[in-house]
Amino acid sequence: MNIPFLDLGRLEENLKERLKNRFSEVLEAGVFSGGKEVVQFERSVSSFLNSSFSIPCANGTDALELALRALKIGPGDEVIVPAMTWVSTAEVVVLVGAKPIFWDTDEEGLLRSDWEKAVTAKTKVVMPVHLYGKMVDMENLTKKAESLGLFVIEDAAQAFGAFQDGKAAGTWSDVGCLSFYPTKNLGALGEAGMCLTQNSQLSTQIRMLLNHGQPVRDQHELVGRNSRIDTIQAAFLNVILEDFETNQQKRKAIAAQYLDSFSGIEGLRLPTGILDSDHNAHLFVIQNERRDELKAFLAEKSIGTAIHYPMILPDMLPFRSVGDFENARKLAETGLSLPLNPYLKTEELDFICKSVLEFFGRG
Ligand SMILES: Cc1ncc(COP(=O)(O)O)c(C=O)c1O
Repeated sequence: MNIPFLDLGRLEENLKERLKNRFSEVLEAGVFSGGKEVVQFERSVSSFLNSSFSIPCANGTDALELALRALKIGPGDEVIVPAMTWVSTAEVVVLVGAKPIFWDTDEEGLLRSDWEKAVTAKTKVVMPVHLYGKMVDMENLTKKAESLGLFVIEDAAQAFGAFQDGKAAGTWSDVGCLSFYPTKNLGALGEAGMCLTQNSQLSTQIRMLLNHGQPVRDQHELVGRNSRIDTIQAAFLNVILEDFETNQQKRKAIAAQYLDSFSGIEGLRLPTGILDSDHNAHLFVIQNERRDELKAFLAEKSIGTAIHYPMILPDMLPFRSVGDFENARKLAETGLSLPLNPYLKTEELDFICKSVLEFFGRG
């Protein structure tokens, strides 16, 4: 048995057919930028997430950068970023000329709740990341940010479809950013992203920024760029969205089986809250001191795993900074993502469980 960490070639035949049909429709319609597929995608996401404004763009990294630009963050400003995240979260801060100030995470990679200790007179934004699909406590974070006069940009790239107290990831803050990178729970067949906002002025600003500063064609009011979503990706996403909830159920069932199989193993930390609604079960990250050995043991059995992520941002060349990043660093050293995707077959899941148990002497 060869079990890849994720094989997107395994899309169900029925879905492939629907995608091919939609591709043919777009080809016949001859509209490859903007158009009704993009409008439909905006509307569907707005309705599913109960977001006032859902603005598709080229990718999740652009969504974050557009959010910062719309809030007029730039040179001289500081932005609080968790030490453990995908590199985009800090990259965009540097791209707009501001400075990322890294703060440690909790043991599962979410911005530690005492982040206000990083606030200075220059701090303008705090950027929580719903890492692995698990939402940061947004009630507390947004209250604190408001009392400190800070903007909040949610990096919800990994958390599409997670809801906390009935409110979707990405809709708690000034701007929430989504990624539809192919490996995400709602993944395109290429690159795509989105900004969510509940503020009409910010939405207008973001729409202009991603379309060369134009409110209407040939009227350029500010320096923007091209970060429009491809029509074909919006069309594919409209189809893929139809299966989202069914796929979520599959993910949750896999996570439940992992939790059940691995409970009580000494020294093995399991993700908490993964079956709750404020977690979209994007990744199943276990933590163990013998992580590298376990990874090699599973690879030997042709089970693919991944590390999200092997290095914390403040240790990376472009972002070097010192501080107490103990939890984030430990996660980078001990975290291992097991396969968790709707294409995993029952016998594969059973084999992964059996193999992990074998590694821990529970065979
Ligand atoms: C936490 C996080 N932020 C930002 C991004 C950037 O999204 P994209 O790859 O669509 O640019 C990703 C996804 O890769 C991510 O996981």
